Parts: sequence; structure tokens; C-alpha cells
Amino acid sequence: MTVNVASAAPATAIAGSMPVQRRYLMCPPTYFAVRYSINPWMHPAQPVDVLAAIAQWQRLHDTLIALGHHVDVMPADPDLPDMVFTANGGIVIGDRGLVPRFRHAERDAESMHFARTMKDLGLAEVRQARFVNEGEGDFLLTGERILAGTGLRSDPRAVKEVQDYFSRPVVALQLVDPRFYHLDTALARLDADTVAYWPGAFAPESQDVLRELFPDAILADEREAAALALNMLSDGSTVIMTTECDELAERIVERGFAVLRASTSELRRAGGGAKCCVLELHR
Ligand code: ARG
Repeated sequence: MTVNVASAAPATAIAGSMPVQRRYLMCPPTYFAVRYSINPWMHPAQPVDVLAAIAQWQRLHDTLIALGHHVDVMPADPDLPDMVFTANGGIVIGDRGLVPRFRHAERDAESMHFARTMKDLGLAEVRQARFVNEGEGDFLLTGERILAGTGLRSDPRAVKEVQDYFSRPVVALQLVDPRFYHLDTALARLDADTVAYWPGAFAPESQDVLRELFPDAILADEREAAALALNMLSDGSTVIMTTECDELAERIVERGFAVLRASTSELRRAGGGAKCCVLELHR
């Protein structure tokens, strides 16, 4: 059974939550807008309901708190409508932070905000990536290794840079479908050994790699991927995902995860879902 977040008590821990407290970074969509188009989801001529986006974001935030996690919230900037997507705010593991280098000039100025936030969080080592690197949107820590999505946003050369900086193995996966421009739009990390993904978003060689690494993965179909349903957030036992795609939710429940449903329909106008709005600080 899955639970709709709207019906879940906000102030108390929700059943199914895990004992491990996670640390997350979020930024409110106070100035959310679609003023430019840097992915196929973004249509500047279509209106955006900022209040709806704020309500959806707030519910996500409150759900993470209700699950017992710690959420740091950084201030929004009126000139940076995409900064709500903090998953692109870098990679933080242990005492080290790697600040993103965005592919598009429209998001460039976000990097200094994320750099400042990382310093404020007390990280010992913070530096900006040399090659285009869109943070956890493309680099997902999965167990000991990092899965890297390259080819559409993050530069393939970022793979070695991340490997060297964090001294961890990084597995490069080539993204090939512009609708799934970040790894976290095509693949979800559910726990250290479980992922869900849509194979069609990856080059054939990368599909082989994924099959080899995760023989028991949950496979989504194109329709589910195109609802951006794979952009889900898991703390290892509870998964927060879109209100669409009930069958995918059921398949995740069958694997022993609790699933909470939260609509991110307004944020999807910029190409984002629940995961995009959250950067995990692996400290
Ligand atoms: N409009 C943003 C962009 O295209 C959306 C970013 C979504 N973030 C993510 N981690 N997938 O950059």
C-alpha cells in the first residue's frame, strides 16, 4: 500500500521511516519560473503557478522532517529561478564538497551560492569542479561507488575528476535521450544495492553495465520515465515519488520500501521532480 503525503500526519514520524537520519539541502521555489528553455520540459510561453510550486515544495520539505531527517534550507535568489533544484548544487561526501560547473550560462551564478552554502555548512574542503558537473543530478552515491550520468549535461571528463576528488570508484553511464538530461531523471537510487531505471535513457553499452551491476533492478518503462516518475527520493526505506504511476509504486513496495506520494507537477514544468529539489549531504 502507498500513502498519499497529503493524508500523512506532518508532525510525527511516518511509519516505515528508517532509523538513519539523513541530511539534505533544499532551496525554496520563491522565485520559481520558466524564463528560458535548457531542457525539453521547459516552455517559457506557458504560465507557471508559483504558489502551487511553493506548496508542493513545502510538502516535500515537511515530509522529510516528519521522516526524522535534517534539512538545511538555503535562501533563494530572484535572478535564479532553477536554484530550487539543489540536487544540482554539487556533491558532498564526508568533509568534501565539489561545487557544480553548469553547462548553461543561465544557471552559472548558482555555483557561488552553493559554494557559500557548503562553506557555511562547515565543510573542510570546497572547490568548484573544473569540468561541467551538475552535481548529484548526475552523480549518485550508491553504496561505495558513484554512478555518473554523462553526455548531456556533465562532461565525461568530470568522471575522473570526481573519482580523484572523492577517492571512490565512479561508473560512467552515457545518457542519450534529451528528455532525461540528468542521471536522476532516468535512474533512482533506492538503497545501496537497489536502483530503478529506464534502460532506454542509456547508451547500449551503459545498459549492459547497469544490467551487470544491478541484476535485480526495478525496470521502469518509457511512459513511467516520461512522467518523470524516476525522479524519486529514497532515504533507504521510504521513497517519495509522484502521484502518478501507481504500478511503479507497487513494484517498489513489493521490494520492501514504504512509498509516499507527493505531487511535483508544477516543478515538472522546469523538468524537475522530488529528487531534483533535494541534495543529500553524505556527511
Ligand atoms: N531546469 C533545470 C535544468 O534544466 C532542472 C534541473 C533538474 N534537476 C535535476 N537534478 N534533474 O537544469
